[in-house]
Amino acid sequence: MLWALGIGLLGLLAGSLVIAVGSRWRKHRSPASEPGERTGGRSAMTSGGSGGGRFGHKKAPAIEPATVPETRFSDVAGCDEAKAELLELVMFLKEPERFTRTGATAPKGALLTGPPGTGKTLLARAVAGESGVPMFTAAGSDFVEKYVGVGAQRIRALFAAARKHERAIIFIDEVDAVARRRGGNGEIAHIESETTLVALLSEMDGFHATHVLVIAATNRADMLDPAITRPGRLDRKVEVPNPDRRGRQQILAVHTAGKPIADGVDFAALARRTIGFSGAQLQALVNEACVDAVRRDLAEVTAECFEHAVATIAMGRARTSALVTDHDREVTAWHESGHTLAAYLQEQADDPVQVTIIPRGPSGGVTWMSGNDDQFLPRRKAHAQLVTALAGRAAEEILLDGEFTQGAAGDLHSATELATSMATRYGMTRLGYQVRGGASPPTQEVSDVVEELLGGAHTAATKLLGEHKTFLGAVAAELLAEETLTLADVHKIATQLGVTRHALVPAPRLPVQVSAAKPAVAEEVSSVAAAAAADPVGAGRWPRTGASRRRPLALVSALLPWRRRRDYGHVIAGG
Ligand SMILES: Nc1ncnc2c1ncn2[C@@H]1O[C@H](COP(=O)(O)OP(=O)(O)OP(=O)(O)O)[C@@H](O)[C@H]1O
Ligand SMILES: [Mg+2]
Repeated sequence: MLWALGIGLLGLLAGSLVIAVGSRWRKHRSPASEPGERTGGRSAMTSGGSGGGRFGHKKAPAIEPATVPETRFSDVAGCDEAKAELLELVMFLKEPERFTRTGATAPKGALLTGPPGTGKTLLARAVAGESGVPMFTAAGSDFVEKYVGVGAQRIRALFAAARKHERAIIFIDEVDAVARRRGGNGEIAHIESETTLVALLSEMDGFHATHVLVIAATNRADMLDPAITRPGRLDRKVEVPNPDRRGRQQILAVHTAGKPIADGVDFAALARRTIGFSGAQLQALVNEACVDAVRRDLAEVTAECFEHAVATIAMGRARTSALVTDHDREVTAWHESGHTLAAYLQEQADDPVQVTIIPRGPSGGVTWMSGNDDQFLPRRKAHAQLVTALAGRAAEEILLDGEFTQGAAGDLHSATELATSMATRYGMTRLGYQVRGGASPPTQEVSDVVEELLGGAHTAATKLLGEHKTFLGAVAAELLAEETLTLADVHKIATQLGVTRHALVPAPRLPVQVSAAKPAVAEEVSSVAAAAAADPVGAGRWPRTGASRRRPLALVSALLPWRRRRDYGHVIAGG
């Protein structure tokens, strides 16, 4: 699940050419992950027939009464850039004259984007709280209606209610539900959502005389209609990413303030271990630790309580009472050992921090990967992740003589998502650079490439585990005996067996386009070097030490003055 979340985030940020690895604690599901899927089916069945009672009449627009939130910026830890940007809105709401005096355009609103639980709602509340203005809150889904015109009517009612105040904030959560990119295929549902969007756009345009700001939040900025983010509407786009190490430490500090925390608890170490956690997850972690202290009847929340909480939040709650047969335990142990070994042995993969066959959350067992705060996912690492994901299935096949169970369902789901992104968004496969698909189902071509990637990863995993069968069996046996192993335990087994770490599992060849582009880039670099050598002024720019590492920089700096000159020329001509 967390793994999928990380991949989802990658997708989110890929558009801005910043590829972020959101969640670095990756989880591989095991045999017991199927029941979750069955539950999904059950709830789908019970939803039929609801809504019939609403047929034939429109709901009256219900606007929640506005309050001035108590939240302040000091309640929001980390996200300093986001706070700095939003401070301008606070300034405007507090002293609008400052803007009118200088003739500056008053801000209209801001769009907060980022993964779930990073504090977007909290930030919006803090803006209202700091400015001391009432905040009208609505979720985008409140405006999604079957009947044409109802959503639009609600939008108008919301804005009318806000305009009754001299200064106010309208906060629209999940704005993607109402401001989805217009497609226009003429269906009724589309007509309704377009009418709602148009109402939203025109209400935002009619703001000139008022001091009402709109703050919207979304996890899916890529889905928004461009009209909503154009200057004069939600023109300030504020990124609220998952917190970095310092941010995580600050969030832990905010949520533990005033609580009886024992002396031995090291928040810096906790922050280092919780890579990829959102603010909401960190809050849940602190709460889980406090609850654990109650359970153990302790006066203070100790380091052990936090240890337990990290495992629970990252891997799900341990289901100690779950009935597991010996056969299932064995399959789980081999499955998890497969993930662990692939992660441990591959040069590009993250370390397996902990592996357990105690059922946790929906899974029968979990392998927990380390990570770091790197923002980029290199191609080789992406391939290593696929091999690690498929290694659970490969290990089962070794144990069961070519047979396997449904246990890899979760792994296959995450691996398919990653492989699809590699093929359709990251330009990492033979399909080339083109972005494909979007929401539509994958084409045959994409589907073939994804299958190739997964098949290749499975073959590589089978080969790697086949070469380390004794190691695999030893880790599985130790897991069956101990139930949970740490990286140190795995390392000890490896040392005893004389296993060398970091096998290089080769990734498939580079895409044709990329390999073709390489010589050209190299040529340009050397011609820049030659030009720099001939031109003494330019030569000063050429880094003489560590030249091989900084070559691309030299290329960029050689091109920059030329571009700047052109830009200046344009400005002068325009003036
Ligand atoms: N930066 C932060 N500082 C302190 N607490 C935070 C921070 N980020 C999140 N939290 C905690 O997590 C909870 C959930 O955050 P919030 O509702 O603002 O997330 P969100 O980004 O709006 O999520 P979603 O996209 O799911 O709506 C908050 O109530 C808060 O306690
Ligand atoms: Mg929210």
